[in-house]
Amino acid sequence: MRMRELMIAAVALGLLVVAPTVPATDMIPEDKMVITFKNKKGVVTFNHGLHATVRSIECVSCHHTHERGEPIKRCSDCHKKKASKVSGFSVVAPKNSKAYHTKCKGCHKYTLEELQKPAGPTKCKLCHIKD
Ligand code: HEC
Ligand code: HEC
Ligand code: HEC
Ligand code: HEC
Repeated sequence: MRMRELMIAAVALGLLVVAPTVPATDMIPEDKMVITFKNKKGVVTFNHGLHATVRSIECVSCHHTHERGEPIKRCSDCHKKKASKVSGFSVVAPKNSKAYHTKCKGCHKYTLEELQKPAGPTKCKLCHIKD
């Protein structure tokens, strides 16, 4: 097959990168595959691994300040209990719960309504589970 031969030749010549090496910071640590948030509203179970891999959502779509090669920061490093100033940014970072609700609910709502595809919960009690 002509295409196949071309591919092999390209690989041999080093023109094609076959297996790009993924920097460690582009992978989710084992103990962060599922993240649970416990607060007075109940427990939110966030399947991090599933969101990032199976559903092929880009890391930076959530880790929006992340620069390639740098370690990933926690949202709560910048998004505090109250909206606050973060060094290096001219705009104030919204408070933690607003950042999460905008991000999590926002995408679920968009996916359901605009893309008409299945998404995660948009209702309080379906995300914040009380036992
Ligand atoms: C749908 C949103 C979303 C996507 C996509 C996502 N993450 Fe996360 N990630 C989070 C949230 C939320 C946390 C918890 C942050 C916190 O505790 O403040 C987190 C935490 C982390 C942490 C732990 C940080 C710490 O110090 O505790 C790492 C590392 C991480 N993510 C890496 C990744 C990588 C790599 C990808 C892409 C393969 C990715 N994430 C994709 C939302 C996401
Ligand atoms: C290094 C600091 C930093 C980190 C880490 C960070 N943010 Fe932010 N975030 C900001 C700042 C500053 C703003 C306001 C300026 C802007 O919109 O870029 C912001 C804005 C946002 C907004 C827009 C809010 C709105 O009302 O439109 C959302 C949503 C958000 N962050 C979610 C997250 C989530 C979720 C994480 C973790 C996965 C995260 N952020 C991590 C600094 C940070
Ligand atoms: C960029 C889009 C996007 C963002 C951001 C996002 N989600 Fe999702 N979420 C989805 C999609 C798509 C599904 C998949 C629905 C399906 O296939 O059944 C989903 C499913 C879920 C589910 C259903 C259970 C599961 O994991 O299978 C929960 C709970 C959930 N998300 C919580 C969260 C939380 C908490 C956050 C914020 C930290 C978040 N999501 C951010 C797109 C998103
Ligand atoms: C897609 C999932 C999701 C939905 C839907 C959702 N939340 Fe949340 N909520 C979160 C996450 C994630 C956090 C951040 C939790 C943390 O940092 O402990 C949060 C934080 C909060 C907090 C702050 C708790 C604290 O102690 O700081 C309150 C209050 C809250 N949510 C109420 C609500 C209400 C009311 C609704 C419905 C109108 C709602 N949430 C819908 C995921 C969700």
